[in-house]
Amino acid sequence: MTINIFHILLLSCIHLATTTTSVPYKTMLGGYRIPVLGYGTFTVMNETELTIALNEALKLGYRHIDTAQIYGNEYIIGNVLSEWLISGKLKREDLFVTTKLHVINAFPEKVEQAVNKSLTDLKLDYIDLLLIHCPIAFNLDSKGGLIAAPTDHVGVWKKMEEQVDAGLVKSIGLSNFNMSQINRIIAAARIPPVNLQIEVHPYFQQKELREYCRQHNILVVAYSSLGSPGLPKFFKNVGYKNTTVPNILADPEIARMSKKHNKTPAQVILRFIIQLDLVAIPKSTNAKRIKENIEIFDFELDNQDMKDMEKLEKGIKTKVIDLLFLGPNVEKHAEYPFTELFQ
Ligand code: A2P
Repeated sequence: MTINIFHILLLSCIHLATTTTSVPYKTMLGGYRIPVLGYGTFTVMNETELTIALNEALKLGYRHIDTAQIYGNEYIIGNVLSEWLISGKLKREDLFVTTKLHVINAFPEKVEQAVNKSLTDLKLDYIDLLLIHCPIAFNLDSKGGLIAAPTDHVGVWKKMEEQVDAGLVKSIGLSNFNMSQINRIIAAARIPPVNLQIEVHPYFQQKELREYCRQHNILVVAYSSLGSPGLPKFFKNVGYKNTTVPNILADPEIARMSKKHNKTPAQVILRFIIQLDLVAIPKSTNAKRIKENIEIFDFELDNQDMKDMEKLEKGIKTKVIDLLFLGPNVEKHAEYPFTELFQ
């Protein structure tokens, strides 16, 4: 057979479509491995959109999926994953799934039932990483509104340890907790927290909290690492409130590094996060950007780049967290976490 230009084009298209990236892992305290790049799913509740995007992500090599009970999408993720697992395209041990206790489930007596519900929705027989999503637990009022409630972190943690003992959860951790709150868990824990998920991006780098976590062998997962550019639209759609976010992707210093490395601003930021020894979980439902976000293992920021990125700290948070801290007088709650500098 003679090979002509048509065959070459066809072969390169097939190659493009099937290239999968092997994402490096980090080993957490307790011995379980987590891919340093995950696929974030916050704000994606549309079944068709998430099904298409997650299939795309899995094809490209994403193996770490980040969800939460409050995102309302565990069942969609479960449908996609079970198709991959049952067909044999994916082995369970190659997959890493994180979910988080809903604020209305962060009570000791609700943990077991909440874990079982997540397992049912995700169609899995264990969760790789379970986090307490928020340091304040909420009850629902008669109209479905959230009312901040007295919160027993240690009581919840003990129940999460039982889920580990039962083999339903492999690792446990926290999200949006400050140092004093983490200290209290560590002091009471039989199984220490191995993971903390917090907002980290170039304008809000969380240096102190990251250092604290490093000293306690807690791996940090960065959310909103690109500055949550989709947040204003999401807030508007859910009728919450007007919000603005910093346009980190348009930062001139990041543009300079993007040009230097022939990578996009998002790729430079994700590389920065990973070179800080963190895990990144960018959400995208756009095929081009899902691919772009995983193509970050073929370049490195040098020492000077890292120093220049560190200089971008501005103490500016996105308002993503406002969504968890709803209800009257929530800032006066005993466990409101943002009274300390940097959480
Ligand atoms: P999209 O889904 O349209 O790509 P999060 O902060 O929850 O991780 O969300 C990331 C936000 O950044 C989403 O709004 C996503 O929108 C957008 N995004 C993801 N990847 C990229 C990228 N490579 N370049 C620009 N925007 C991105």
